[in-house]
Amino acid sequence: MTTPVDAATAPAASIADTETPLVELQGLTKSFPVKGGVLQRTVAEVRAVDGVDLVIRRGETLGLVGESGCGKTTVGRLLLRLIDASGGRILFDGQDITHVSGTALRPYRRRMQIIFQDPFASLDPRAPIGDSIGEGLRIHGLGTPPERRAKVARMMDLVGLQPYHARRYPHEFSGGQRQRIGIARALVLEPELIVCDEPVSALDVSIQAQVLNLLRSLQRELGLTYLFIAHNMGVVEHISDRVAVMYLGRVAELSGREGIYRAPAHPYTRALMSAIPLPTPGARRQRIILAGDVPSPLDPPSGCSFHPRCWLRARLDSPEACSAERPVLHPVADAQEAACHFAERTSEMSEGQAAEAAEVVAAEVIAAEETGVTEGVVGS
Ligand SMILES: Nc1ncnc2c1ncn2[C@@H]1O[C@H](COP(=O)(O)OP(=O)(O)O)[C@@H](O)[C@H]1O
Ligand code: SF4
Ligand SMILES: [Mg+2]
Repeated sequence: MTTPVDAATAPAASIADTETPLVELQGLTKSFPVKGGVLQRTVAEVRAVDGVDLVIRRGETLGLVGESGCGKTTVGRLLLRLIDASGGRILFDGQDITHVSGTALRPYRRRMQIIFQDPFASLDPRAPIGDSIGEGLRIHGLGTPPERRAKVARMMDLVGLQPYHARRYPHEFSGGQRQRIGIARALVLEPELIVCDEPVSALDVSIQAQVLNLLRSLQRELGLTYLFIAHNMGVVEHISDRVAVMYLGRVAELSGREGIYRAPAHPYTRALMSAIPLPTPGARRQRIILAGDVPSPLDPPSGCSFHPRCWLRARLDSPEACSAERPVLHPVADAQEAACHFAERTSEMSEGQAAEAAEVVAAEVIAAEETGVTEGVVGS
């Protein structure tokens, strides 16, 4: 068996934009039925993903960020064809795989893998981890037993596990080591794309850095492409080439890393950024606190779905467009797009002005919750 993928694959920065992207999502939507009543009939639909257009170039990391419930995991599962799309298209390596199924899907399954937040949940507690890591090879009928063992040993070495670990059981490992096992399991089939779904969210900060560094060095060595999901802008800052910010099933902002961290254009992105701790000891940012949770996709707010929580809208005295017209992604700077009618005003506001406006909105949201007039603010 060969070593995984071509180690000479060029880094993202040198890849021409004209090359067929590895992944293209076009107008992707996913609705889940909501059952109710004694007969458990479908009474409504949750629009978890609502018209997402994204491209993932070969060898790059696309960070996908947003609060819990924004639809990030659903995008990842749709892309991996673990669930069926309700609308739109998924292109992988230029091929439309939206409706491919059964044996025709098998070759694509090998080429796309996932790393979960909690690898423990996907490991068989009674199987030594060497067996779990090699499971994909057995399922796909690849190699003889000695070849599989050798491949598993190579993967374990690659992720920093010791050979004797192969005979140990999942409960014998720490959180960070379990994530290394999860990574080895994903790598064993030599995939081109890995969906990393909050792979460090459950780990201590010191261990997070180790796992992120490992993922980065594996990417360079193996030419991997990542869709890296996180709820925190800080986690994806150093690993992403580009970042997509999601809000309530849609992309709110899409930008190269430089642009988005230097000058976030969407007020939601700016709020997420204000939560990243500053590297200088003692230095503090003014937090833009967002009140309440992401609204329920069952009953999304009108116009811009962020409007009931938006500090910029408050600063601008609630322009009608915010609640009346759905903003679409449009260019706001070089390689930067935002879905906000007033994106050019975001950077005009100082930290203090933004934080103060957010406090006013938070007070309104809390008052509305108390009186039961939620305007779609609170997830139900
Ligand atoms: N299988 C499902 N059935 C019904 N609703 C779902 C299902 N999976 C996800 N959802 C809903 O879709 C929305 C997006 O969920 P998810 O993609 O898990 O968000 P995230 O990963 O950003 O936290 C949430 O409102 C969630 O409750
Ligand atoms: S369109 Fe209005 S409500 Fe939406 S993000 Fe922009 S300013 Fe805020
Ligand atoms: Mg998720």
